[in-house]
Amino acid sequence: MTLPKVYITRPLPRAAVERIEAQCEVRINKEDVRPSDEQLVEACRDVQGLVASGSPVTAGLLQQAQHLRVVCNVGVGYDKVDVAACTARRILVTNTPGVVTEATADLAFTLLLAVARRLIEADHYVRSGNWRFWQWGHMWGTNPSGKTLGILGFGRIGQAVARRARGFSMRILYHSVDRPTPEQECELGAQFVDRETLLRESDFLSIHVPLAPDTNHLIASAELALMKPTAFLINTSRGQVVEEAALIEALQSKRIAGAALDVFEFEPKVHPALLAMPNVVVSPHMGTATAETRLAMAMLTADNLLAALSGRRPPNLVNPEAWGN
Ligand code: 8YV
Repeated sequence: MTLPKVYITRPLPRAAVERIEAQCEVRINKEDVRPSDEQLVEACRDVQGLVASGSPVTAGLLQQAQHLRVVCNVGVGYDKVDVAACTARRILVTNTPGVVTEATADLAFTLLLAVARRLIEADHYVRSGNWRFWQWGHMWGTNPSGKTLGILGFGRIGQAVARRARGFSMRILYHSVDRPTPEQECELGAQFVDRETLLRESDFLSIHVPLAPDTNHLIASAELALMKPTAFLINTSRGQVVEEAALIEALQSKRIAGAALDVFEFEPKVHPALLAMPNVVVSPHMGTATAETRLAMAMLTADNLLAALSGRRPPNLVNPEAWGN
């Protein structure tokens, strides 16, 4: 019996690769660097399964991958995959929701605390040898407790951020297209408000929407203009949700007090103006970067892949229209 062929774009944890290798003929990019478009086209020419981590899966690529049956995105956000083009070819697309929630919420809250308490600035100060004596008026930050946290996008990750914020005695507002039940809202201690109220009242605004055409530049000058001059923006979703030029302008003109960003509009390029501001905390798109989470993502990807290739419905199917008759 010939095994289905699979290409994996990144070196995933061994346990997941071995699981896939038990049922498939696997080719894997051993370097932790995104394959070039040409390399990806070449690698996908004769495969039935593609495991993609950060690689764009375009209509052009699909045209060259005539045997492809499933694209498994290692991550919850599948904005790099042309799902419509996959569906048109009846190619299944899967992602890894659930397992990324806690780690991403942890990072969002870490960034919130870091920017509120000026942690990175303080770390640089001590390391640089400039700390000579203790000063009363030095390194004053902002208390999260008693402040309003606005959560834009209230799916799994937004709700997990709310759970953390409860422990910090924050008032929690949210705006989202999907609303949890009144019981869940009550349990999370979160109140639904319209977008304008969210922007006006938040002391910390944390973004948790997926990137889609209608969320591209969801936060631009008009939205930033509604925010308090004392407010902080935290983004762990996708860089393109925030118009970076508008954010820079808002920070430079002190329209808002600071930002903590794990994602950037043109990542891995980060605008030098952001790097120059001490009230901006930056990290390299690492929301899910914990050993436990990355292993869980890889194992769930293997489940999705093996189900699809053996004719079973994958547990995390993004395009159910491509399934069935
Ligand atoms: C990944 C992510 O780093 O889950 C997501 O949506 O952003 C991250 O877990 C990214 O998808 C690249 O694989």
